[in-house]
Amino acid sequence: MTTTYIDVAEASSIPPGHGRTVNVQGREFAVWNVDGHYFCIDDLCPHRGGPLGAGSMKDGTVYCPLHGWGFDLQTGICSARPDRPVQTYLTRVINGQVQIQL
Ligand code: FES
Repeated sequence: MTTTYIDVAEASSIPPGHGRTVNVQGREFAVWNVDGHYFCIDDLCPHRGGPLGAGSMKDGTVYCPLHGWGFDLQTGICSARPDRPVQTYLTRVINGQVQIQL
């Protein structure tokens, strides 16, 4: 299976400690900057669909803006419900663009 990296955002548009939702190929992803390193997970919270790109982040965990479930950006594991993780995606920065691997 081939994998492709796709531009999702200007790196400078997501400063450290911030994240946002991006739409790529009809799907939504949450991209977060943790101390200059970019992480990507599914945007859709597995609880009731909250937008994880619009949540808050502390110590590499994103908290859903609706009911506060926390998701580890490296593993996708949910601290409140380990049986309900989100998928994680590899990222890289090329020419100032954050790319995710699909
Ligand atoms: S929708 Fe995310 S915690 Fe409820």
